[in-house]
Amino acid sequence: MYRNVTCGELRLADVGKTVTLAGWVQRIRKMGGLTFIDLRDRYGITQLALNGDKLSLADGLGREFVLQVTGQVIERQSKNAQLPTGEIEIEVSEINVLNPAVTPPFTIEDETDGGDDLRMKYRYLDLRRTCVRKNLELRHKMAFEVRRYLDEQGFLEVETPVLVNSTPEGARDFVVPSRMNPGTFYALPQSPQILKQLLMVSGFDRYFQIVKCFRDEDLRADRQPEFTQIDCEMSFVEQEDILNMFEGMSRHLFKAVLGIDIPKLPRMTWADAMKYYGSDKPDTRFGMRFVELQDLFHEVENQKPEAERFSVFANANYIGGICAKGCAVYTRKQLDQLTEYVRRPQIGAKGMVYARVEQDGTVKSSVDKFYTQDVLQRVAKAMEAEAGDLILILSGDDAMKTRKQLSELRLEMGRQLGLRDPKKFSCLWVVDFPMYEWSDEEQRLMAMHHPFTSPKPEDIPLLDTDPAAVRANAYDMVINGVEVGGGSIRIHDAKLQEKVFEILGFTPEQAQAKFGFLMNAFKYGAPPHGGLAYGLDRFVSLFAGLDSIRDCIAFPKNNQGKDVMLGAPGVIDQVQLDELNIVLK
Ligand code: AMO
Repeated sequence: MYRNVTCGELRLADVGKTVTLAGWVQRIRKMGGLTFIDLRDRYGITQLALNGDKLSLADGLGREFVLQVTGQVIERQSKNAQLPTGEIEIEVSEINVLNPAVTPPFTIEDETDGGDDLRMKYRYLDLRRTCVRKNLELRHKMAFEVRRYLDEQGFLEVETPVLVNSTPEGARDFVVPSRMNPGTFYALPQSPQILKQLLMVSGFDRYFQIVKCFRDEDLRADRQPEFTQIDCEMSFVEQEDILNMFEGMSRHLFKAVLGIDIPKLPRMTWADAMKYYGSDKPDTRFGMRFVELQDLFHEVENQKPEAERFSVFANANYIGGICAKGCAVYTRKQLDQLTEYVRRPQIGAKGMVYARVEQDGTVKSSVDKFYTQDVLQRVAKAMEAEAGDLILILSGDDAMKTRKQLSELRLEMGRQLGLRDPKKFSCLWVVDFPMYEWSDEEQRLMAMHHPFTSPKPEDIPLLDTDPAAVRANAYDMVINGVEVGGGSIRIHDAKLQEKVFEILGFTPEQAQAKFGFLMNAFKYGAPPHGGLAYGLDRFVSLFAGLDSIRDCIAFPKNNQGKDVMLGAPGVIDQVQLDELNIVLK
């Protein structure tokens, strides 16, 4: 036996026992006649103490050596309240070096000197750090509780293939050449969407799968090219049934994993989310809701002679403001920085107008010369701003674009004011998404969720007259401004599905070629069905309070989509290329 206890379990009650542990050397401290070694394994750290004739056992040891150690548990002289094992240490009698180690490229402790790139290159060492390992433990626990909950609700986990054909979730596919069928390619699934719908046709009325999905899209903190979904589908359900089932799952996860009782999830229409937060994934940990000011300003501007107008507001289709409580103390420099922030190309606002409500109630703004105190007071009233508050206003021609810019400003103010506490959770459903969104790039309507999403029954007539106004039976679960999951009720009627494909610009032949098998399957008795998928990585990173999903993935890709440890993607041999009939340009 290599060990009979782990490095995380010994306590005062164990004093006197002779034990054997195994683990890695985290640190060695030599203090005259005493040497201390911190021995680490997955479960914790235990201090080893060597003295007298045992001192020489530490000779030649270094960081990350793998040791087997036998000794007696004794009470520590100076206790460490930070460590669960901090009241005891091991008086070592024997050390067996199981394997020496070269010096690691960075310190393997929570506070490390290793930069991002280095840690990724030596990810197996990074994973030894407690703070990283804990994220994977959390991930395991969450996946386990998901399975427990869904199993109790009668869901079956069914595996679907990874070598499939293109699945339309809106990103680019990763493709795999087929050796046996020259000139043809598999695509890796962007999600098991079509397959899970086919499983409903097969009668598996409650399906789930914790499954890898692949999307070749630009990477961000919350996006990886391969990520994991908790993918679910149900038959004989309406939207309400799905929202209830998965609200239940989220509630179970919060309780079982974090010990938190979350309140019933509020629902917000997509239209309200855009109007009040400028985002379809509003961070509702704090208020600072948008107030639209275009009517007020246009009325004022229309009463002024042309020459006295503030053209920026007079000509803007949309003017929106947020009120930052207590921020009238912001200095000119801070306000200039905020202006710079919204003018960054990623945000793209032209400028920002501000107004401070002074302690005596007067309003001082950056556009004082265009507006009377009376007008500024009306603005403050509309914004529900009080003495000491700061009003920030953005305007523009395109309401949606300006709202998105104001959303970025709101999030930045939330951050500056400490209102985005990662330990506080605010969950909601965003519902009634539009069916379609206009794509400037493609010059056509695109499915906002995916082409199998059902329109709201009452909006079906609009498909013929005003498709852009059709709302879908689609929903997202949003937590702290992150879209953790989303789904929809599906179309189960082949005729309606054909019509939706037509609006998306597919000719009947194209639709047949791409999705013929699905439309055909629907002819054999498709039950009404719907579902959703959560992003497991995002869910875990929220629970862990991380900004990026990378640290809750064992071996993530970097921002260029590379695994620098494996050197993937890599070049392949000419022989392999020839076999696959691939000629590189
Ligand atoms: P959707 O495309 O909204 O829906 O994806 C579901 C959830 O998956 C997560 N997600 C990602 N996580 C990390 N990296 C990515 N690149 C990434 N892309 C998506 C998000 C998102 O909410 N088939 C539908 C679901 C359905 O209709 O049932 C789908 O895939 O958390």
